[in-house]
Amino acid sequence: MQARVLVRAAQLRYSQRVRTCRLQLARINAAGELAQMSRELIEAGLAHTWTAMRIARHIQHPESVVLSAHVEHACAGFAVMQFAQESAHLNLLAVRPQYQRRGIARQMLNWLHESAVTAGTFVVRLELRATSAAAHAFYRALGYRDAGRSAAYYQGVEDALCMVRDLRINDGVLRAPNG
Ligand SMILES: CC(C)(COP(=O)(O)OP(=O)(O)OC[C@H]1O[C@@H](n2cnc3c(N)ncnc32)[C@H](O)[C@@H]1OP(=O)(O)O)[C@@H](O)C(=O)NCCC(=O)NCCS
Repeated sequence: MQARVLVRAAQLRYSQRVRTCRLQLARINAAGELAQMSRELIEAGLAHTWTAMRIARHIQHPESVVLSAHVEHACAGFAVMQFAQESAHLNLLAVRPQYQRRGIARQMLNWLHESAVTAGTFVVRLELRATSAAAHAFYRALGYRDAGRSAAYYQGVEDALCMVRDLRINDGVLRAPNG
């Protein structure tokens, strides 16, 4: 009983934190801003490969979803996921520093998980920079499991950690009531 009360309290705290964040499918004219966010938040120190043109291709591609998160009029974060028959692949996910730890990335990922399940895709895979402890902690909190390491995956200079989540397994990951 106490655990249920604690979970409910955490859900309320969580829903209050994300209440002001609005998710939408990114529009083509947002590609430049999202590419800039990728350059600064995800690809820092690497050559910039997620150009505006590449992001625009994903926005237009029928098997990709590019999601943006907005707080008032500002774009606070975004995500790119590619869907295939057997699994989905999370290509990019970032939240601007001033909006972090408000549950925005969790809300975006939950939205993408629901889309994947609706499409009949139950496995999500991703890679992240091996030096990114915050991202690793985030994905673990969202129920992702370590699935190996890919040496020099990023332009020959940095390893990637591979992670996977089976969306059929509900292992007690806390969900937002509205998320
Ligand atoms: C990783 C990232 C997307 C998380 O975004 P966020 O909106 O701050 O994450 P959330 O607020 O939804 O966090 C959900 C949970 O993840 C965990 N988490 C998130 N950031 C964390 C951090 N810096 N350290 C430890 N745990 C963290 C926590 O359990 C958190 O729940 P809590 O705040 O109730 O403790 C963000 O830090 C980011 O954009 N980093 C730079 C880009 C990047 O590395 N992207 C991922 C690889 S593509």
